[in-house]
Amino acid sequence: MDKYMWWQKAVFYQIYPRSFKDSTNNGIGDLKGIISKLDYLKELGIDAIWYSPFFMSPQEDFGYDITAYDKIAPEYGTMDDFKLLLEKSHALGIKMILDLVLNHTSDKHPWFLESKKDQSNPKADWYVWKDGKKKNGKKPPNNWKSIIGGSMWKWNEKRGQFYLHQFLPCQPDLNWRNEEVKQQMFDYIEYWLNKGVDGFRLDIIHTLFEDNKFRDNPKSWRLFPSESSSASLFQNPRYTQFLPETIEICKSIRKIVNNYSPPRMLVGEATREPKAIRSLYGAHNDGLNLVFNFSLCNTDFNPKKITKIIQESESLLPEPYWPCFCLSNHDNKRMISKLGNNEEKMRLFTLLLLSIRGTPFIYYGEEVGMHQVKIPKSQWSDPIAFLKFFKLPIGRFFNRDGCRTPMQWKPVENNAGFSPNSSIKPWLPVPPSLMTQNVETQLNNKDSLLKFYHDLLKFRKNSLALQIGTFSLLSTANEKILTYKRTFGDEKLIIILNFSNKVVEIVNPTIDGFKAFSTKSIIDHNNFVSNIILDKFEGIILDIRS
Ligand code: NOJ
Repeated sequence: MDKYMWWQKAVFYQIYPRSFKDSTNNGIGDLKGIISKLDYLKELGIDAIWYSPFFMSPQEDFGYDITAYDKIAPEYGTMDDFKLLLEKSHALGIKMILDLVLNHTSDKHPWFLESKKDQSNPKADWYVWKDGKKKNGKKPPNNWKSIIGGSMWKWNEKRGQFYLHQFLPCQPDLNWRNEEVKQQMFDYIEYWLNKGVDGFRLDIIHTLFEDNKFRDNPKSWRLFPSESSSASLFQNPRYTQFLPETIEICKSIRKIVNNYSPPRMLVGEATREPKAIRSLYGAHNDGLNLVFNFSLCNTDFNPKKITKIIQESESLLPEPYWPCFCLSNHDNKRMISKLGNNEEKMRLFTLLLLSIRGTPFIYYGEEVGMHQVKIPKSQWSDPIAFLKFFKLPIGRFFNRDGCRTPMQWKPVENNAGFSPNSSIKPWLPVPPSLMTQNVETQLNNKDSLLKFYHDLLKFRKNSLALQIGTFSLLSTANEKILTYKRTFGDEKLIIILNFSNKVVEIVNPTIDGFKAFSTKSIIDHNNFVSNIILDKFEGIILDIRS
């Protein structure tokens, strides 16, 4: 039997359903729209899709605030649409993973509406409620800060207590210490597995539990989190993140998933501190199958820093553990724009993503180089944009709308072919760059970024070395060059990435092989190289099997 699972070999693609394809002319993406684009995705060469949530929700946080875990939001379609999407995906050999928001519900969820009524109703203990401090009890129970700033506690007058929210106040945390809650959420997991989905992405899974003694978090000097520490907002989240109880739940969910055949998978979203992330895999690789490492999303265009990221990942997650990387997602600025909208640099980063060890996730629109869009204040939608930071709206510095704009299908000014009718204005605006950064235009250009994605994904599909091969970093004399080797059986590949804006020549390399892939030039497969010349920002794959 193959010792590697499908999700180790696969390339995932993230769809933000609201922004992928509108089939009804309401300016909002939907499941039927996605169905109409499955052939495009098959052609692109991806193997699996992660869907951001499309469950019933008031959409205050665009689906990450759920009011019914077993129902499809009507603006996205019906359960029949879901079934068709799953059926068609599977017929094309594309797997489907759903977004599981276990930490919190919407504050409009019937459970919370009941829970907040008083302290003795049947759902009274389904959320994390606590008496406040001070005589009138109106001071928060402790110093815990929510992930997005401000107290993690919100006062509820009727119940006369505070409730806890790790994220927005409209997203109260479920009480995972309550057995009924746990059982109910496990039932939903089985509900979707029984329908045939191939796994789940687990939303902010590291925040599932908090300290049962409600101890204050220690102070920290850090305002923003970093690669080396998850402390932020002047607080170390010791009592609110990565608790042992959270790891136990990851293991329980893994057990549920392991009962299913064909095999299913779990990928967790957690803070970016790699050591903490490692704990969610479980001490015996019996927790989550994968956990996102967001270090590449946050790194500079700097081979030294990237080398450090890879070294750390390799030492924390040696086989059978499996890393998981992406370049952007619906919470992060689009990578190409972090790189100054430079396509050559984006190609280099994409080759990196698809050739290091681990499961890669591509964010929708990345393949045509969609830019981060500057959204005018009158069109802000992201709830975080409206929160205040030192009296100024956060949206002035950070707004997730910019990476969530409609997929650019065609060179159509008003909506990039997102809605069938070109006069429809989509829920978020499209940028002028859509005239070149779109699917139709790039499919007709053999030198386009999209064609590069096609070629690279095809190369990877035929290369077990890239999918599951062993990984080793190679040293080079030039500090602007990053080089590593992937090996599987007879297949031996050397990947060389030139991060400098100059042509680089590697004279008399100790290896002989042929250039099998390049981010730039056309490949001559018979051309054995002894001197390797890399153009500025060029990345190549050298095949050295002999
Ligand atoms: C992380 C999700 O990726 C983000 O979009 C969401 O707002 C929060 N979790 C809260 O669910």
